[in-house]
Amino acid sequence: MTILIKGGTVVGPTGPYPADVLVDGETIAAIFAPGRGPEGPEVIDAGGKYVIPGAIDGHTHMQMPFGGTEASDTFDTGTRAAAIGGTTTIIDFAIQRYGEVVQDGLAAWHAKTADQCHIDYGFHMIVGGVDDDSLKAMDQLVASEGITSFKLFMAYPGVFYSDDGQILRAMQKARDNGALIMMHAENGPAIDVLVKQALERGETDPVFHGLTRPQELEAEATSRAIWLASVAADCPLYIVHLSASKALEQVKAARDLGRNVFAETCPQYLYLTLEDQLGAPGFEGAKWVCSTPLRSKHENHRADLWQGLRTNDLSVVSTDHCPFCMKDQKEMGLGDFSKIPNGIGSVEHRVDLLYQGVVDGKLSLARWVETIATTPARMFGMYPKKGIIAPGSDADIVLYDPAGRTRISVETHHMNMDYSAWEGWEIDGKVDTVLSRGEVIASGGTYTGRAGRGKYVPRGLSDYLI
Ligand code: URP
Ligand code: ZN
Ligand code: ZN
Repeated sequence: MTILIKGGTVVGPTGPYPADVLVDGETIAAIFAPGRGPEGPEVIDAGGKYVIPGAIDGHTHMQMPFGGTEASDTFDTGTRAAAIGGTTTIIDFAIQRYGEVVQDGLAAWHAKTADQCHIDYGFHMIVGGVDDDSLKAMDQLVASEGITSFKLFMAYPGVFYSDDGQILRAMQKARDNGALIMMHAENGPAIDVLVKQALERGETDPVFHGLTRPQELEAEATSRAIWLASVAADCPLYIVHLSASKALEQVKAARDLGRNVFAETCPQYLYLTLEDQLGAPGFEGAKWVCSTPLRSKHENHRADLWQGLRTNDLSVVSTDHCPFCMKDQKEMGLGDFSKIPNGIGSVEHRVDLLYQGVVDGKLSLARWVETIATTPARMFGMYPKKGIIAPGSDADIVLYDPAGRTRISVETHHMNMDYSAWEGWEIDGKVDTVLSRGEVIASGGTYTGRAGRGKYVPRGLSDYLI
């Protein structure tokens, strides 16, 4: 069955152009000059709309066991919310904890996703225990399982933390097999000292989560990761959830030297602050406890991050979607900020929140599409199947209405959270229609997708490596 998406403005990584897009089954068959396409059995009027590749969220944690509880979105609720918000692929994190077999962790995540996902999905692998066995497993995952990126943690001692020797060994392995090392770059042992000292002084409110994770400890870890990757013969390195100007400076310097260093940021760091959100009165700030933390509005972080997106020192915007409810979850940290589960949920809103950057003159249309769709596809080995409107690519397509308006609220969002980190935000644009592999799954506010239609996407190596 064919669908002609007619009269819209296609936006790709090189910019916007008027075109009609012919979808045949699950893929894009052709792109026509306006009015030249064959009228199929079905025509979707895209007049006045942008036609963009379905967005790819390269960093989510659905039903992740973390912080003594579990992230509140299941793969069912989280991927449905993502779809409604214009995201047609996620890459979630399967987990190996210290002492566990990597392949068992992966099997557990395949079991969690089986028949649950509304959109296509892939996995990165968190390696929580680097040793001979897990290093060998990395080769097998790259060669046979479609997993080509591995997350390590310089934070969370006793949970996922790797020391510098373990990090170096994993980087050497990645250098050999072509995988990408994704790094949670914060100096965990130093943070633990500051947390203990703060609690001893009776500083227990959520804002102290941010104050005990100063940007220097993000910058130091970012720099150390970059140097360790250099020692590992320029192992490809991708810094996740970068939030701070000084950390960005490290990435910029490495990239200026031509290093295989990349970074992502997240909407929360582009818009929200330590004072206005994390420092909200009482326990309210718990809603915005995440790591790395929100940064001070009295420093230049947000402007620097927007600039980094424009200059490609920041390549990708992911959400780091890791939702927890206030009730029974964030509340675990009443009276002790260190017990608040770390994470913010935004998987439904990233396309809109970044489009607001276009409206505000901070990003071009092309860069919007690049940072939310095309670059994640290329970075994580899914291109050109995903991330582009082109013949032969999966027909993952979003019609975006620049004349529409989106109001974000817990009353209307679809994520399984009892609050919204973006309550009351108004966006000058709206997701109108979403196609996933040629099927219209959302249109004009009606959702018609279903759990289980999403397929696992085995990934190749990153396009950005030579
Ligand atoms: O606060 C965060 N980022 N929670 C999710 C886990 C991680 O470190 O990405
Ligand atoms: Zn992390
Ligand atoms: Zn994360």
